[in-house]
Formats: sequence, C-alpha cells, structure tokens
Amino acid sequence: MCGIIGVTGRPDALQLLLQGLERLEYRGYDSAGVVLAEGQGLWRVRAAGGTQSVAQLRKLTEGAPAAAAGIGHTRWATHGRPSEANAHPHVDCSGQLALVHNGIVENVDELRREVLAAGHELRSETDSELVAHLLEDALAGPAAGDLPAAVRQVLAQLRGTLALVVVHAATPELLVAARRVSPLVLGRARSGAALVASDVPALLGEAEETWVLDDDQLAVLRPGACEVQDARSGRPVAPRRLEVAWTLEEAQKGGYPDFMSKEIAQQPEALADTLVGRLHPVEGIGLDEVRIPEEELRRVDKVAVVACGSSYHAGLVAKLAIEHWARLPVEVEVASEFRYRDPVLDERTLVVGISQSGESVDTLQAVRHGRDNGARALVVCNVVDSSLAREADGVLYTRAGPEVCVAATKTHVAQLAALELLALHLAQLRGTLAPKRAGQLFEALAALPDLVAQAVERGPAVAAVAETLLGARDVFYLGRHVGYPVAMEGALKLKELAYVRAEAYPAGELKHGPIALVEPGTVVVAVATRQPLWEKLMANLAEVRARGARVVALASDGDERTAEHADEVLWVPPTEPLFSPLVDVVPLQQLAYEVARRSGRDVDRPRNLAKTVTVE
Ligand code: AGP
Repeated sequence: MCGIIGVTGRPDALQLLLQGLERLEYRGYDSAGVVLAEGQGLWRVRAAGGTQSVAQLRKLTEGAPAAAAGIGHTRWATHGRPSEANAHPHVDCSGQLALVHNGIVENVDELRREVLAAGHELRSETDSELVAHLLEDALAGPAAGDLPAAVRQVLAQLRGTLALVVVHAATPELLVAARRVSPLVLGRARSGAALVASDVPALLGEAEETWVLDDDQLAVLRPGACEVQDARSGRPVAPRRLEVAWTLEEAQKGGYPDFMSKEIAQQPEALADTLVGRLHPVEGIGLDEVRIPEEELRRVDKVAVVACGSSYHAGLVAKLAIEHWARLPVEVEVASEFRYRDPVLDERTLVVGISQSGESVDTLQAVRHGRDNGARALVVCNVVDSSLAREADGVLYTRAGPEVCVAATKTHVAQLAALELLALHLAQLRGTLAPKRAGQLFEALAALPDLVAQAVERGPAVAAVAETLLGARDVFYLGRHVGYPVAMEGALKLKELAYVRAEAYPAGELKHGPIALVEPGTVVVAVATRQPLWEKLMANLAEVRARGARVVALASDGDERTAEHADEVLWVPPTEPLFSPLVDVVPLQQLAYEVARRSGRDVDRPRNLAKTVTVE
C-alpha cells in the first residue's frame, strides 16, 4: 500500500505535492519522491529515509525549479527493498516520462523479460519501473504523441492491481491517471488546479469538488479540467462524485472512528494482495527472496516455528497445515523460550520466523540461534528489508500495508495466508499433495478474500453480542484442532484491547481442571465452526452450559446444530477447515473491539503495549 499524488495547474505544485505526501504517509513511508514537469524536462528527487522520507524530501526540494505540474509518491515496499533506486517516481530510459504506482503487478516476471528483450535498461528492482518502459514503447509506436492512448494500451498488458499517475516532459501540464483495484480520488481546486491522489486526505482543503475514479477508468487531468474515460474504449464516462466532510484525521482513518476498525475492514484487501501472483497450483508459489535452493527445502525433515503474540498463533495454524499437507513434523515455540531450551537443530531443520514488524527481538534472536546451529531460516514478514528479512535465507512477504494499530489484525490474517501458501508449497516440493487436491485448495484460497469481506460486513451482529461480555471479568475461549489457535488469538485481542482476563483452552482440556472455574455467569466463547473435532466440541459446550456458563459460539452459516448448544451465535462463512482461521478470527477481532470501545478503551493505542517489541 503506497500513497500517490498528482497536481497540475498550480504554480506551487511542489508544495501541494509535499503536503499531500505528508498526509498520505500512513499508507507507507519507506521512501518518497517527486517529479516536477517544468517545461524544460522532468526534475526528480527521491529520498529513502524510512519514517523521515517525506521530511528528507522536503529538504532536498528546497532548490527545486518552479513548476505548475508534478507527481509524488510515498512507498510501502512490496517488490524491491526500500532504497532510493527503488523509490518512485520511476522514469523510462529517456527520462522524459515518469510515473508513480500503487499496487502489485502480477505478471512481473513476464514483463521484465519483455522489457529487457526490448533493450531497456532497468535501474530498480521494482515492478513499477517496468510500466514506465512499456509506456515508452507504446509512445514510440501506435500511441505516439497520445499519452492517454499509451496508458490505455499498457493497461491491457498488466495483470494485478494498480493506481497509476503518469507525466511526460513533452506535455508538462498533462497528467494521466488509471485505476484497477488500488484507490484513486480526483479533485478540482478553486484555483483551477486538477488533482489526483490515493486517498482523500491529500485533497482536503484544496479540492472544491471531489470524485472517485472507479476500476478500469482513466482520468486525463489538465489545469482546470479533469476528463474521465473508460480505460478500454477511451469513451468519456461521468465520474462518481464524492462528498467529503471529514477532518484530516478522520480522512486518514478513511471515515472509520479509529485505525483498528479501518484495519479490520482492510483485511480482504490485505489478504488479496498477499495472494496476488502466488496461487500457482502447478508450479508452486513464488517465494520473494529465496536463498534456499529447492533441493534443500526438499531435504528438510523438521520445521521449527518461532514467533510472538499473534504471530505465534499464526504459527500454530501453520503447524497443522504443514503437518497435514507436507507431512513434515513441526514444532512451534514462543520465540522468547526457543533458544533457552537447547533445541535440537541441524542443516535439515527449517526455522520459520513469523513477525509482522520483522523487528521483534525475541524472534530475531530465535532465528539467529537456529541459523547458528546449522538450520536454514525462512521468514514471513510484513516489512521489506526489516532486520529479520535481511538475516533470513528466504522471505515470504505479507502485503498488508502499514498497520498503525498496536493490535495485529490485517497483518495476522495476511500471515495466515502466507503460511497456508508455504504449507502448500512444501507439500508440492515433497510430492505429498495430489495435483487435483492442490487445485481445489488453491481455489479455496482464492475465494478467501470474499469470505473475509463477508465476515467483516457482519460486524453489527457482533456488536449486539458484545453486550454479553461487558462487565465479565473472566472469559474462556474454547476451540479444538484448528479452532484452538483462533481461540488463543481471540483471547489475546480481548486482553490487549479491553483489558479483560481471557484464557484460551483446547476444549478437551477443560475437564482436566479449568472447568472448576466455570460457574453461573461465566462467559464462554467457542470457535465452533465446522472442523474435524466439532462433535466433541459440542459435548464440551454441553458440559460448561450445564454449570451455568453463557456460551457465545462461532458457527458455520446454516449450522443450526451448533446454535442449539449456544446462547448467542456469530455466523461465519464456511471454508476448508484448515483455512477457517482466516475467516473465524474476524468476529473475534470485532468482539474484542466492540467490548473495548464500550469500555472506553483506546483501541488504537492500548495501555502498556508497543507496536514493535524491540527488547527481550
Ligand atoms: C498482537 O495484537 C500484539 N500486538 C503482539 O502480540 C504482536 O503480535 C507480537 O508482539 C509480535 O509482533 P511481530 O509480529 O511484529 O513480531
């Protein structure tokens, strides 16, 4: 997820670009850059200063030439590490065309081969730069002198998600923008300037009128004019008006009351982005930075997963998936314990470190310990070029974009997706998964973003149930098999957001002691969607209800039998049992959120917690 912006028709275009980028930093901040179209050519400056990138860019542009048009970008890396060379805007070989891009080009390998074969020189590791060279070729051919036509032509070559803004030195006042899934909004300013940006915050206070650019639409911006057309035919279309009455902070939250609810709502997109370009039932998934030869992966005889918190819960799901499909023994350990128990490791062990930040010291130290003892390390991480990513032998990036809220939600779901892909990849390498079954599973994976979206939309029903938990001092979360890690994640969310004591148990464990705590009024939240041990879980629910507990059950749509064993039901769309955590976790996130909000808690910044734990 990145922030892009374009301005034309303003003598102070640079100031508008910089202000817009500062307002879009919540979308990513690995690096930032601007290009000004000032009549004599394009003037470009970029900075890769981490969270200070836009501030550094402001300093670097102090001597910039006057220009009435330009484009800008603040980056969250997905392809290619954070660096000045990978920072947008990217240019073509002539330096006469520049573009900024937000999204993921799925057919990146095919296009890279095509661009190199055409003799272009690549100066970055990004997928976005390829688009600049494709546009250069289009302008040298049938779309000569027609930038909108060139953009339409290249869009037809791209698969994946995109929001693009393009400028050419030959037509410095003209910007062309295009959208496919990644958002773009348009604005017309009182002064007559035309603006385009990833999100409303960049337009606030500047645009008198705002519109949404819809999928497969293209916008042609000139001073005082903004024409929208169908990206395939080029026929003009009426843009969809956007009424904005937000403050800047409200706009950065996308109209949501807080980042937590926004990031819960972003889960379908984070999941879809993490899966883009990786669902290959035949040739297997593409790991991002694999420095582990496939032969070595085939020889792995044990997997050791190390992680903390929500990432640890994702690891427990990975264990079930890898053992079931790849038939590989998997041990999962909280990272802070791993290296102190003198684990048995060797060159046939694969240590999998899971960390959304890539900076949790416990996990970093655990991965280091694994590598120091001969194991290979693969990391599932949300931050390109983070400490963990740099030290691993292989990296599988989640693509959830920056997660502002301390409590992990979209990064957790994205981790689960990446780990399911890893399990299927290992199974395919080891030949333990029949191609037909692999195809079914990849199909079910591809359907998950829509199922997660359905679960997100059921938030109001969860809010109604939240009243049940209000005032509860002790809550049990129960699950079995793949439902148990989900129960653990649900309990953690209630603890860290609402400050309520919540314990997760494998439901079969209750009779070995914990059930002594169950009394009238005890609240039990059960992950009772259909999975292998569902029948046994029903018996466990009968045990706790017989002792007066109030049961809130997650149940698969239409499963009336589970509803008979519960006082309240949260319905969840069904999927493959081992994929169910990606969907089942959503109502538990919403439940914790609703209880926390009703309890007056700060859901974005819970007490005592930090987003990244960089101490042991
Ligand atoms: C989850 O909601 C918490 N914020 C916390 O448990 C977190 O998952 C843990 O600190 C691990 O962080 P990491 O994924 O960045 O390593």
